Amino acid sequence: MHPMLNIAVRAARNAGEIISRSADNVGKLQINRKGINDFATEVDRMAEQEIIKIIKTAFPDHAILAEESGEHKGNDFVWIIDPLDGTTNFLHGFPVYAVSIALQVKGKLELGVVYDPLRDELFTAERGGGAMMNNRRIRVTNQTGLKGALIGTGFPFKSQQHLDAYLGMFRTIHADSAGIRRAGAAALDLAYVAIGRLDGFWEIGLHPWDMAAGILLIKEAGGVATDFAFQDNYMETGNVIAGNPKMHQVLYQAIEPHVTEALTRLKAK
Ligand code: IPD
Ligand code: CA
Ligand code: CA
Repeated sequence: MHPMLNIAVRAARNAGEIISRSADNVGKLQINRKGINDFATEVDRMAEQEIIKIIKTAFPDHAILAEESGEHKGNDFVWIIDPLDGTTNFLHGFPVYAVSIALQVKGKLELGVVYDPLRDELFTAERGGGAMMNNRRIRVTNQTGLKGALIGTGFPFKSQQHLDAYLGMFRTIHADSAGIRRAGAAALDLAYVAIGRLDGFWEIGLHPWDMAAGILLIKEAGGVATDFAFQDNYMETGNVIAGNPKMHQVLYQAIEPHVTEALTRLKAK
């Protein structure tokens, strides 16, 4: 294993432990409202501090982009961290949440880790080295059409201006697929595409930390991810379509007629 992946795994597992320890006491947590439907707790912050401590101890010169504490300047190695993806689920005891850590070097995703502490499922990917779950190689499904496909998504609850466009996409995909799931943790949704539990995924208005690790997992598991203009600017637009190459194309065709100009703009949120 890449020594940097080792560090990311240790950081993700430690953060997972902090999250699990607090899961029984969510009622007592102090909740911070960051924006409309956007929450953080001291667990998010403690988990993030633990991850940053482990990374900074091993690689003091590396830069960090973390959801709760923002940018920490450094060299060309940038760690992109979501200490707790699925905070709303966590706060409700809805058992779907994860830790997401990725390493980007000169704009390229090199490593990705998504850790689900409830199921003890560790998803890892190295660029060019494939994707694994608990050290077993994983792959996207072979599904070729919407008929029979299970598709993951997220609702644009923080960007209501895109609701009509989203509902148009939803209507088309809902009509033809076997089902649509909104589990509430984008990093896990993407990991589930990589392992074949979902045939595809789309969402509007994600942040880099929601998707960085999950997208590398999908690519290394034989899948494809783009933004809504069929480009690689998912981190800049926040919008993602993912699946195996064929499903990605099928989803793109279903989504494309509903894409507004604002949804292809960089930094559109
Ligand atoms: C959220 C989850 C959710 C997605 C939101 C994200 P958070 O992350 O990934 O599935 O729909 O857009 O913000 O806030 O729980 O880390
Ligand atoms: Ca998140
Ligand atoms: Ca989060």
